[in-house]
Amino acid sequence: MTAAIPMLLDCDPGHDDAIAIVAAAHHAELLGITTVAGNAPLDRTTYNACVLRDLIGDPKLTVHAGAARPLVAEPRHADEIHGVSGLDGAELPAPDRGADSDDAVGFIIDTCRAREGIWLVAVGPCTNVALALRAAPDLGRRIAGISLMGGGTFGNRTAVAEFNIWADPHAGAVVFAHGGPLIQAPLDLTFQLQATPARIDAVRQTPGRLGTVLADLLTFFSGTYCSRYDAMQGAPVHDPCAVLALTHPGLFQSVRRHVTVETVGHDTAGMTVIDQRQLVERPAANTDVLIKLDADAVWKLITEAIAANA
Ligand code: RIB
Ligand code: CA
Repeated sequence: MTAAIPMLLDCDPGHDDAIAIVAAAHHAELLGITTVAGNAPLDRTTYNACVLRDLIGDPKLTVHAGAARPLVAEPRHADEIHGVSGLDGAELPAPDRGADSDDAVGFIIDTCRAREGIWLVAVGPCTNVALALRAAPDLGRRIAGISLMGGGTFGNRTAVAEFNIWADPHAGAVVFAHGGPLIQAPLDLTFQLQATPARIDAVRQTPGRLGTVLADLLTFFSGTYCSRYDAMQGAPVHDPCAVLALTHPGLFQSVRRHVTVETVGHDTAGMTVIDQRQLVERPAANTDVLIKLDADAVWKLITEAIAANA
């Protein structure tokens, strides 16, 4: 039995963030949750993280609020996908308590200095992670690496920019340039993990309240996605990919690529520029770009994590 992967999860709950939280709590050693403005303003993403902490029944898990706005760009959200609350579509109980601190960056730095070998998993805009890397130059050599959901060879907010990177391209650029181990779960991968009706039903069939709540949330999430895409069978459940690629790497395929983030282009800001050239003089790879997953096996892991909370 190998030891559980220690990780901190930085997120902007968010329907797929909720699944990432459940997956990390069950399949990894989840050392804390930090929140960032993204799908919704910070007060909402933080409130939602506290609600989810209660729903998974882990009062010892701490939630730390972070950046309310990107490094440079103006705050932008995704209520057309997640609703104004950031987690529309289910009856959610008010949390027993709010955030345990409003210093996500300090929590990240202190936790990674107290224990080396932690993975930073970023599934929202990378603002908190970028601020931590800037504030603590030693962080890069203390962490095991960064696993992020973001970017891709196409976008969902623009033709070329995915939301997490588009919302804070300057933070994304810092993370891709940090120099340590980096795993990217791009849209090219996450679109392979769609919450089809059969998969949502498998979640709903799990015993306990969590399955019902998450099935309701996934139904809402898929409703908004399917209404906006030509031929989507269900919402792509992006964020757990960044978690499960660490805990179950055998279910994923990756390629080594050099990736940077465009921060100034009028039509391309927020694009992850993934160098796929076969040229021998291409820049050295800095990222493990995930390109394929076993969707049924990944969904089974998600369903197991939800059922375990019954
Ligand atoms: O583009 C998808 C990403 O943006 C996901 O992390 C989703 O939760 C939103 O944050
Ligand atoms: Ca997210």
